[in-house]
Amino acid sequence: MRTMRRLDQILANLGYCSRREARAFLKAHAVTAQDKPISNAATKVDPANVQIDGQPLDHPDGLLLLLHKPLGLVCSHEERDGPNIYSLLPERWRARNPVITSVGRLDKDTSGLLLLTDQSQLVHRLTSPKHKVPKTYHATLDREPPAGLAELFAAGTLTLEGEKQPCAPATLTMNSSREAKLILTEGKYHQVRRMFASQGCEVLALHRPQLGELTLDELAPGKWRELPLDTFAASS
Ligand code: URA
Repeated sequence: MRTMRRLDQILANLGYCSRREARAFLKAHAVTAQDKPISNAATKVDPANVQIDGQPLDHPDGLLLLLHKPLGLVCSHEERDGPNIYSLLPERWRARNPVITSVGRLDKDTSGLLLLTDQSQLVHRLTSPKHKVPKTYHATLDREPPAGLAELFAAGTLTLEGEKQPCAPATLTMNSSREAKLILTEGKYHQVRRMFASQGCEVLALHRPQLGELTLDELAPGKWRELPLDTFAASS
């Protein structure tokens, strides 16, 4: 059963207006609950029954998005970090509280599959070290990697500079002499670039086409598709 909540709080949480603006919002829009007009912003309602100008509320239960992150955008909410992925989303979604945030990050010069959600438990669960979601990366290297690199990455013994724990075992396949496919089950800072750099290779281009069972398919850079909120319900 859903909980009844104050309408001004619901409107503010879903990014329609601030709580302070709720009265003016109700004057400017036809807001109903179970088809009865509401003029008092303090009225307690079930979000499932609310309509604004004849439309149901925008994702009242939360959002889970699969984004094709384009190159050149950062995964940060801080303006000072430069243009960010959140600028791709509709304004109302950007005003939501809890905020929509990425599940882990891809760096500015990496493209690919990124999950975005306002479900903080999901972010914690999917980024926790015990939830080993395989993340597939395609890396273009500046040179052919040294012999035995796949065995080294698979061994789980490589400790990157500044880290205490070695990298978890990772699966490396070379698609051609400089095109690598690397599957990680963790997400240390700039991990792919640092793993190759530790062995004398620079990553010239990096893309993540897959996360767990999820793939980008035909999704263009900068576009997203919605996923059901229970997409990861079965995984522990
Ligand atoms: N590893 C990196 O170096 N960058 C990313 O964005 C993701 C993994």
